[in-house]
Amino acid sequence: MREFDKLKHSLNYYKDELFKINGTHFTLDSIITTRSKEMIEAKRVAAKAAECLTNVLIIGESGTGKELFAHAIHNASSRSREPFIKVNCAAIPSELAESEFFGYAPGAFTGAARQGKPGKFELANGGTIFLDEIGDMPLLLQSKLLRVIQDREIEVVGGTKPIQIDVRIIAATNRDLKMLVKQKLFREDLFYRLNVICLPLAPLRNRKEDIELLVNSFLSKYNRALNKEFKGITPDVLEAFRNYSWPGNVRELENAIERAVSLGNNAWLTWADFSNIFEQERIGIVNSTNNSASLAQSNLDKTLLKGNLQQQETELIRWALTECTGNRVKAAKLLGISRSSFYEKLKKHDILNPSSALTRM
Ligand SMILES: Nc1ncnc2c1ncn2[C@@H]1O[C@H](COP(=O)(O)OP(=O)(O)OP(=O)(O)O)[C@@H](O)[C@H]1O
Ligand SMILES: [Mg+2]
Repeated sequence: MREFDKLKHSLNYYKDELFKINGTHFTLDSIITTRSKEMIEAKRVAAKAAECLTNVLIIGESGTGKELFAHAIHNASSRSREPFIKVNCAAIPSELAESEFFGYAPGAFTGAARQGKPGKFELANGGTIFLDEIGDMPLLLQSKLLRVIQDREIEVVGGTKPIQIDVRIIAATNRDLKMLVKQKLFREDLFYRLNVICLPLAPLRNRKEDIELLVNSFLSKYNRALNKEFKGITPDVLEAFRNYSWPGNVRELENAIERAVSLGNNAWLTWADFSNIFEQERIGIVNSTNNSASLAQSNLDKTLLKGNLQQQETELIRWALTECTGNRVKAAKLLGISRSSFYEKLKKHDILNPSSALTRM
């Protein structure tokens, strides 16, 4: 009995070690509080899904948090101390896919390792397998996966008998699986097997109400990590963030904040600290204008943009002056621009006359 306890003890030790290294550091709490109805629902469904072993399909554009949710479901489940194995279905060449998924027996084919190799399903046994980019899985492999889900057993390449497996499957994709089914590129029966619980994650441009929360949360994360003390982002940048399309979603926003915190100089992160993002957006607009109709639209956009920027600049200057109780030197510093260009802007926007109560210099 003592031997047994010792073994159990060391097994738990190794499970804890595995937990530390298997990279599933996200929990449901890592998913930043959200005001978006869709995301509140997604978190609720994820918490429920963690309680059972039903297959989950997570759908969302790149950077919306699919992997984050997969980790969180695993870590909130009774399997959190068991393996979490991620497989990128798009990255495995189709000729190697079968042995990667199901492993191979010793001497199964020329060039195979002598002792054989366990496949991802065997490695995930007792835990969770995360099939990322499932929409890119080759058709042949899809039918094999379907068999694994139905029979709960795998056949090792070159092996003699099937192996029983007990694996929770979480799949994710940024592709339109229903469309792929229609195009006969994805098996309909597999789609229904995976889509038992569906978690659609909204793109960031459709949940503008979350932008401020995410910004503040990433700002404190990177202030802490990089030992900085930025107070926030200026209101004009926040407004621009709400209007930006965020093609890279939350990942892009997080990277933007990390970059700005690393490189910024003033107490507040200003327009200048995010110029790379808005520059890309502008290039995007120019590149997409390849016919006269869109050119006309683009000119209109530019006129609107110009008017909008003027107004934002005025508001920003007013905000900086209020923030620095009218001290222009401080306000210029806060905005990260030189004193002379600050004066020019005051003049251009006719913001203050020298007798104004705010003027202190
Ligand atoms: N709701 C959120 N709260 C906190 N961080 C988030 C949230 N959503 C995404 N992130 C962060 O954004 C980054 C991208 O998330 P993740 O890797 O889960 O995206 P993905 O949907 O799997 O993207 P891809 O399709 O490109 O693989 C991660 O660093 C993650 O921490
Ligand atoms: Mg991912």
